[in-house]
Amino acid sequence: MIDQSTPLPNVAVVGLGKIGLPLAAIFANNGYKVFGADINKDVVTSINQGESHVKNEPGLDHLVLNAHKNKTLSATTATSEAVAQSNIIVVIVPVLVDEQNNIDYKIIDRAVQDIAKGVKKGSLIIFETTLPPGDTKNKFGEKIEDISGLTMGEDFYLAYSPERVYSNQIIQDLQNYSKVVGGVNKKSLELASNFYKKALDCKLIEVSSLETAEFSKVAECVYRDVNIALANELAQFAEDKSVNMSEVITASNSQPFSHLHSPGIGVGGHCIPIYPYFFINKGLDQGLTSLSRKVNDNMSNYAISKIKKRIGSLQNKNILILGLSYRENVKETTKSTALLLIDQLKDNRANLFVNDPLFSDSEIAKYGANPLSLNDSFISEIDVVILQAFHQEYSHLDFHKFASCKLVLDGRNKLNKKEISQLGIQYEGIGN
Ligand SMILES: NC(=O)c1ccc[n+]([C@@H]2O[C@H](COP(=O)([O-])OP(=O)(O)OC[C@H]3O[C@@H](n4cnc5c(N)ncnc54)[C@H](O)[C@@H]3O)[C@@H](O)[C@H]2O)c1
Repeated sequence: MIDQSTPLPNVAVVGLGKIGLPLAAIFANNGYKVFGADINKDVVTSINQGESHVKNEPGLDHLVLNAHKNKTLSATTATSEAVAQSNIIVVIVPVLVDEQNNIDYKIIDRAVQDIAKGVKKGSLIIFETTLPPGDTKNKFGEKIEDISGLTMGEDFYLAYSPERVYSNQIIQDLQNYSKVVGGVNKKSLELASNFYKKALDCKLIEVSSLETAEFSKVAECVYRDVNIALANELAQFAEDKSVNMSEVITASNSQPFSHLHSPGIGVGGHCIPIYPYFFINKGLDQGLTSLSRKVNDNMSNYAISKIKKRIGSLQNKNILILGLSYRENVKETTKSTALLLIDQLKDNRANLFVNDPLFSDSEIAKYGANPLSLNDSFISEIDVVILQAFHQEYSHLDFHKFASCKLVLDGRNKLNKKEISQLGIQYEGIGN
């Protein structure tokens, strides 16, 4: 139960995207007055109309509307002003990598600059964005000191708490997952912990430093990337031995110390394929982490070579990718395996089509592919289907309409092999 006997401090949430908006909406429904800040005017407009721009997030629409009605959530593009009206500032804008996998701080640098201009004495700043260990204090804390003239740990408090939620279940995860919290000093940790206890009503894991909290998030993503790479390597070997990897995983994981992840056509999104570089680019020895990145990035090549083995040259073949998003039911293309497939299919001079119910035709066309509706009669001309992201719309896909289809490459091992094979269409999975 939240104690509302003393007035709660105002909160600024900087970055109102897939993670920031759910956070802001929960805080705003738990007694806090929340000033959201985002550089995207459309995002700000929709929130100020009580509408969530983030789709497929159970419970979020209701929370945003409710907070809007109660006047506890407003949004603005003026970050410094939102910060100046608040005592707690939560930073949740992305840090990505560029084409060469160098860390790209452009987005967060701009946000931190705006925060530093607005922050007032006594405020608590919490970074939630995934960061290379050391950045909260050495890069951003010091930058805020320089711009604001305030001293961290004394004039403003500084904490780090990674966001570990999974899109499509964020509201539930925020309550169920323990929140890892680290502070630049004891007071910062105490303030941040008290805030999360009230604002999220969740369990806490207090760690001894900012760096420990930062490291824990990157380590978790590296673990998942390495584990998937292992599953991918074993899946390829299983194919060689005519063994079904899905069956292997179920059997192996019945031993409590075995946690084999699932193999697949690639690892995308703005977490798992990116954060290993937060270690690799900061001095981690070349080893499992960097090798795993290579293994996982090579899976799209592997998938294409499997298709070629079955049907020969791809030149002038009509190939349909199902899913532009990096994974199911989320509108996000960062590091999506679909982008790797598009490049490789173009190199192979295939006629390339993409379907994704979460994107408009013009959004798909921007990636250099022809958008194709599943209701289009041209579906009957498709030679090969590649399942890249298993959106809910694909769970009952009727393959009868793929009258010329020779092969389905099921990159997520989710389709019904028996049904597809019965139609005379060859089926290939990853490790199946
Ligand atoms: N999406 C996930 O599944 C996930 C999971 C765990 C952790 N995270 C962490 O959350 C971060 C944010 O992820 P997301 O999915 O919400 O990203 P997102 O791209 O959906 O949202 C980011 C938002 O920040 C806004 N923004 C950019 N620059 C800004 C600035 N200078 N000031 C204010 N707003 C600005 C953008 O307009 C956008 O609305 C990730 O980088 C990661 O560190 C994400």
